[in-house]
Amino acid sequence: MGHHSIHSTVCAALLSLIAVDALGAPASLKAAYGFAIGAAMNSPQISQGEKALLLAQFTNLTPENCMKPKALQPTEAKFTFETSDALVSFAQQNGLKVNAHTLLWHEACPDWFFQDGGHPASRELALKRMRNHIQTVVTHFRGKVTSWDVVNEAISQTPGEYLRKTKWMSCIGEDFIAEAFRAAREADPAAELYYNDYSIEYREQREKTLRLIRYLKARNVPLDGIGIQGHWQLDQVPLTSIEEAIIAFHAEGLKVMITELDLDVVPRKITGANAGHKESAGADRYPNGLPPEMLRRQAEQYRALFELFRKHSDKISRVTFWGLHDGASWLNHWPYKRTNYPLLWGRDLQPKPALQAVLAVPPSRSLDLLPKN
Ligand code: G3I
Repeated sequence: MGHHSIHSTVCAALLSLIAVDALGAPASLKAAYGFAIGAAMNSPQISQGEKALLLAQFTNLTPENCMKPKALQPTEAKFTFETSDALVSFAQQNGLKVNAHTLLWHEACPDWFFQDGGHPASRELALKRMRNHIQTVVTHFRGKVTSWDVVNEAISQTPGEYLRKTKWMSCIGEDFIAEAFRAAREADPAAELYYNDYSIEYREQREKTLRLIRYLKARNVPLDGIGIQGHWQLDQVPLTSIEEAIIAFHAEGLKVMITELDLDVVPRKITGANAGHKESAGADRYPNGLPPEMLRRQAEQYRALFELFRKHSDKISRVTFWGLHDGASWLNHWPYKRTNYPLLWGRDLQPKPALQAVLAVPPSRSLDLLPKN
């Protein structure tokens, strides 16, 4: 090895130690911001390349599907923990925190919760099943997960309507939310408990969320934070609304997180993330890659988002991406099958211009040097 190559090896090692690249930008997402950085994952069975990417760049993971009621209790009293146990031990072995998702949702929830021999279950029966699900699941993962999305997407997307009309609502009523949070706290006093939803940054949805927060707080219901999902679309990122929502939820004394971030680049008709919505298959516009001009626009818009997150990093505790790389995104399947490019790494695991843009957002020193817990 000549002097030159020894020199460059030493330099490379030093650079990786202080985690900045030659231009002074941080070399990893997790080193770049004061908040935790997460990725959604379906199972610990990932390639070596995916694992290297995950461990180099992320601090947290969210189980994308395996902790939903349909996965954990497909049949009453038959709990299936295999996949989620494997994912949690993978996280523990690799020093990643787990943000568990989700105890109650109207999707991915088997119908037996709401049935009683061909009739709708009574309030008492549905409550009993709900509490039993939460008690069993939260106890099972106690000490192994950092947080729970206790209730997901309970707020109505219909103008003028407060809570979504779901079977949880029709069987139990409005207090199913408070009861769920109480049951979760009882089963694991140390886990943080969150309400998680999409489009709650927009004014009307934000007001409904504030109404829910205040209702819960007035009844001493244990609520620690709000997850703004963040399934946004190219050229339609509602930056002003997002900023107003971060400020408003934080002002209620809650942690604020972006929990399911992606930036869809293939046109779809619907905003938000209604998992039950389907669209008739459009053409697969970009099967062989995204045009450079769109990669650039996506990078610009990710940059604007992270400038905002940087500005409010005293209020944001975590930003989680809904998938590790483009090939792993749900947006390849929803609301119709298409080749999508919503994340910071490509399906070849190479960084996209959007990653460079996010890493290049300069630190706002006055805020970022303050200690964080
Ligand atoms: O696992 C089965 C597979 O066995 C089967 O062959 C295949 C056929 O369709 O379906 C597979 O299940 C799919 C599952 O994802 C796993 O890939 C379901 O059909 C599909 O509906 C399910 O979609 C998930 C969706 O939630 C509904 O649960 C997405 O992956 C997941 O990204 C999405 O995540 C939600 C969040 O939980 C809440 N916020 C919105 C977000 C996007 O909808």
